Amino acid sequence: MTTKMQLVKPDGSILEVQFAKGLHYWADLQLPEGDLAAHIDNVLNFPVREDDIYLATYPKSGTHWVWEIILMLQKRSTDYEKKVKEFAFLDFRDLTTVADLPSPRVLNCHYPCHLTPKEVLSQGIKIVHVQRNFKDVCVSAYHHLKGFGHYTTGAFDEFLPIMLGTYGTYFLCSWCEYVRQWEIFTKAHPDQIINIYFEDLKKDSVHEIRKLNTFLGTGCEEALLEKIALACSFHNLKKADAEFKENPFAKLERFDMYRKGDVGDWKNYFTVAQSEEVDRWISENLPDTQLAFRYSL
Ligand code: A3P
Repeated sequence: MTTKMQLVKPDGSILEVQFAKGLHYWADLQLPEGDLAAHIDNVLNFPVREDDIYLATYPKSGTHWVWEIILMLQKRSTDYEKKVKEFAFLDFRDLTTVADLPSPRVLNCHYPCHLTPKEVLSQGIKIVHVQRNFKDVCVSAYHHLKGFGHYTTGAFDEFLPIMLGTYGTYFLCSWCEYVRQWEIFTKAHPDQIINIYFEDLKKDSVHEIRKLNTFLGTGCEEALLEKIALACSFHNLKKADAEFKENPFAKLERFDMYRKGDVGDWKNYFTVAQSEEVDRWISENLPDTQLAFRYSL
């Protein structure tokens, strides 16, 4: 069953949000069945292959970046994948098309840990979880939702409360809950998952790509790791996306998935009071965590 809720945006206009089993999604996302609950069920029962990699991210945490890196590691090549990562995106795709993709597949999904395909867990599929500091996530999400027309008012001030659940819903789910679930999963299954911080990847890409190479057992040599880091730098990926990639899903003139790619852009949007409010929200909603996010480099 799906429940729909109408969210009154700060400008007075209405945004319809779908709820199902603890997940909230914004309207007009073109779910194949048009029904979030049915789609979640299909995701949970999605059949995996033993050489799949499962890339788990809260939205705007560097999914496209790490997706490309993993494929290059798997193929031991710096050739860009022609198809964008949305082809292997479980959230909104017709899953029969994802099921038909050739191996190697880097399945990617924003659903929280408890909505991960059951076979990923039962078959010990390798999981790469990428996480990013919440303040930069908020800014990136703001531009994303504005770009897609899901949130059309101009001010970040009015958008931030949505990320904190103030209007009774979240963009997807609570970020704290999302990272908390994967932290708990990691403690229980340390060999099945690697957690990568966006900030670490930005600071020293080769170091993080080396960790991925070891975890995935892809056997790339050091010189190739350096080439992959360069091929996947912000400017090179942005260029490849614009000039080379096939993207039938989300080419919108006013939206660029490769926006800034910085750590600390939040400082251009947050007031001191908002930053403190977010710090409080995180310490209340993410107690006893060992996660350590960096807000600047
Ligand atoms: P910004 O909006 O802050 O620029 P996702 O792929 O999960 O939707 O995340 C998108 C964010 O990752 C965007 O952040 C985007 O610019 C950033 N990003 C993508 N590729 C990157 C790269 N190679 N280096 C740094 N940031 C990158």
